[in-house]
Parts: sequence; C-alpha cells; structure tokens
Amino acid sequence: MAKDPQKIPDKPDEKFLRTFYWLLQTVKIHQDNNKVLRESAGEFVTSVVESCIDDPHTTIEVFGGRFYMREKKLIYRLESFDLVHGMLHYFETRGLQGLRLYTAVSDAPIEQVLAFARTLNQAERQENPVAWIAQQLEGDAFPWAEIVHNQEELPDAELELKERAKRTYFYALASVKNVGQKISSKRPVGIRKAKRMVQNLVDLVSEDESLLLGMSTIRDFDDYTYTHSVNVAVLSLCLAKRLGLSRTALERLGICGLLHDLGKTEISREILFKPGKLSSQEFEEIEKHPVKSVSHIVKLRTDEAVKARIIPPIFEHHLKYDLSGYPRHLREKPQGLFGRILAIADVFDAMTSARIYRITPFSPDRALGMMMEGAGKDFDPILLKVFVSMLGVFPVGTLLKLDTGETGLVMETPEETLKDRPRVLILVSDGEGGFRKGKAKNLAERDPHTGSFRRNIVKTLHPASYGIQPAEFLL
Ligand SMILES: [Fe+2]
Ligand SMILES: [Fe+2]
Repeated sequence: MAKDPQKIPDKPDEKFLRTFYWLLQTVKIHQDNNKVLRESAGEFVTSVVESCIDDPHTTIEVFGGRFYMREKKLIYRLESFDLVHGMLHYFETRGLQGLRLYTAVSDAPIEQVLAFARTLNQAERQENPVAWIAQQLEGDAFPWAEIVHNQEELPDAELELKERAKRTYFYALASVKNVGQKISSKRPVGIRKAKRMVQNLVDLVSEDESLLLGMSTIRDFDDYTYTHSVNVAVLSLCLAKRLGLSRTALERLGICGLLHDLGKTEISREILFKPGKLSSQEFEEIEKHPVKSVSHIVKLRTDEAVKARIIPPIFEHHLKYDLSGYPRHLREKPQGLFGRILAIADVFDAMTSARIYRITPFSPDRALGMMMEGAGKDFDPILLKVFVSMLGVFPVGTLLKLDTGETGLVMETPEETLKDRPRVLILVSDGEGGFRKGKAKNLAERDPHTGSFRRNIVKTLHPASYGIQPAEFLL
C-alpha cells in the first residue's frame, strides 16, 4: 500500500540494515586488509552511530517476521524488500531475536568490527547459534554489542497503538449504540460523544490505516446496524484520507458514517432480519430509512451548521452514481462526494457481512470484484478504484488457502507494488475445530536457493464459513 511520505522508513534505519548486510557479505570473501571490506566496516560504524539518534545505542529486533528498530516497525518498500528479507533470513537462521549496538563502536578498531561480523557469520554452523553468539559477546571482545531477547511480544509502542485502536473502535461503537437507543426510546439526543469518537478515529486513520481496517472486519450479528455503522465510518475515513481530504472534512464524514443508518432503528426487526425475500411493501419500508435517518438528524441537539452538512450525504447513501437507487427523487443534481464515498463503504461492508438471508457472506475480494462490475453505474468509478487499491487485492481479513496446505489470514494491506502477496497470519488448527494464531508470514518471501516464492495463494475463503472473526486474530 502506498504509505504517507512520512511513513517511509527513516533513512538511517534502512542505511543501517544495508551497510550491516553488506558488511556481513563482504567479510565472507575478503581478508581484514582488503580495502572494500574496510570501507564497508567504516560505513557500518557510521550507520550505527547515525541510527542511534538521541540514544547511546540502537536496537534492531524481529517480531512476527518484521524488523523493528528502536521499537518502531520498519516499513517495507519495494526497493528494500530483498534486503529486509535477506536480513530476516539471516536473523532467523541464527535464532537471533535482536541486537543492540552502542555508539562506542566508533572507537573500536576496524579489526574488532570485522571480527564481530565473522562471529555472526560463523554462528550459523554452531549447534545452538544464538547461545554461541551470546557466549562470544560475553567478554570484552565486543563491548559495544549485545544480544536482545524478546518474548515474541510486540514493542510497547505497537501494543499501545493496537490497544488504542481497539478502545477507539469499541467506544465509537458504544457511542452510536447510545444514539440509536436514545432515539428508539424517544429521548433527546446529542452527538458530542460521537463527535469525540470520530476525532479519535481520524487520529488513528492517520497513524495506522491497517489497524483500523483490521478492526472493520468485526461483525456482530445482533448488533449488526451498529457495527456496520462504525465499519462504514472507518472505511469511509480511510478512503477519504487517501483522497487527501482535510481533517475537518474527515471528521464530518466520520459522523455521517456513524449516523447514516439511524433511520433503521425504526424498522421492525422482523423486516430487518427477515430470512428470504422481502415483499415489495417490506422493501418500501426499508427504502424509507435514509429519509428517517435525516429526520433524526434534524432533531439532534447539535450545531445547525453541522447538521446542514451531514444531512445530504446521509440522504444520498443509497443513491447510485447514475442517480437510480433510493430514495426516489426528481432531481438532476449529482450525488455529492461524501454520498459517493458512503455508498461504496456501505455496500462493501454489507456484502462482506453475514446476514440472515445470506449466511455465508462474500469474501472481501469477491465483493470488490462484484462492485467493480457496477463502476460508473452504481459507484463513482474513480473513487471505487481508489477504494480497491486501498484494500488491496486481498483485503485485511481475507482467509487464504495456500499451496503449502496452510491457511492464512491477511493481516495487513500490502504495499501497492506487492499487493497480490500480502502478509498473512498462519492459522493452526486447535484440534477442537477451531484455530489458533500461528506465525506471521510474508507471501512475498522467496526461497533463497530456488528463488521461487515459498507460499502461493490457491484460493480465497470466507472467514465466516470457518467460524473465524478476523478481528480476534488480528488484534
Ligand atoms: Fe443504509
Ligand atoms: Fe448502511
């Protein structure tokens, strides 16, 4: 996925990895006095110092198949992909979880740096490589290097972000539910809380889109309308973020997403959850909900200017790009931008959700494929294109059958250039018909000997048909 420019890794981190890798390779073929080798050692030392930034040391660690430097995930770029993978493989074959290097390396003689690189290389041939490295590093031989052990847990910063994403999602859910329940019991309703929740959602979308997209795979059958509303808000926000809309616009759009189906609180559950086909009368009832949502918004206790802005998109969320759809109307005015965004997010979430009349929902990739057929007719073709590229060929939460016989759950929207090779979480059977988390694997990973991909996708499956709630595994 194309990340924001500020999300591209800091140059020092990539440089560190590159010079480190280069040193480890050149030391294999040259003697200590070789000019190229000595230069590469010098570059490595410089890059260690540069990547220390404000600390006397820098730490590189592996968690779930990804590198973290100073507790920050190293973002993949196509240019650095082979490098990162080569290094990951290097760490993995040595059982190395992490290394900490101190700026003091700049005072070390070049021979010492070279001996360090040789030690790491030799570890591969030891019976217990990591224990052996630890032993070599114990004395004074390399006072500027130490091994870091982690328990395969995410660094604090990452965990905190995940926690925040979870909390934000569920608070947003609670706030729409609260609005809906107050409306059902005919109590006065304000949306101060919902507005605050949207601000948090907007913050998160700016920080880590993948996390929230993962959350938007949450489905709750009983609370369908509410989880759907939050999912529509999340999907719309991510799309709008891609379009470069302002923060104020994002906040307004988020509110629209949360409140778009408020009118459904008035439709009876018998109709909403009716298995089988609706009668034309029942369908007419359903078709009234955008107008009903609007009438609830008119009554909200909130700023009139805000109301005036969120009403049109909500009114339009079931209109189609060619102005068919509902509510039926006699106008030539095109659907507004927010209305077009909501319509896409709404249909995608609805298609991928299990509903009583369609117990097995469409898998996300299938839903996108079907939506593409309506490009230019049902949906704004350009917005839909951005939406599809945002979610990737295999959206977060898609279950994949792999040619290794494994089952993988897409956990991150991959970078644009690697979109058909996402990162997946391997799901392992728990022996009781369910699954538990296995290792994270990158489908772009190649076998270093044959050069071919280690895993290929055979087909996509829908998580719901395997009783899987992707969010449970992704968070
Ligand atoms: Fe709706
Ligand atoms: Fe909806």
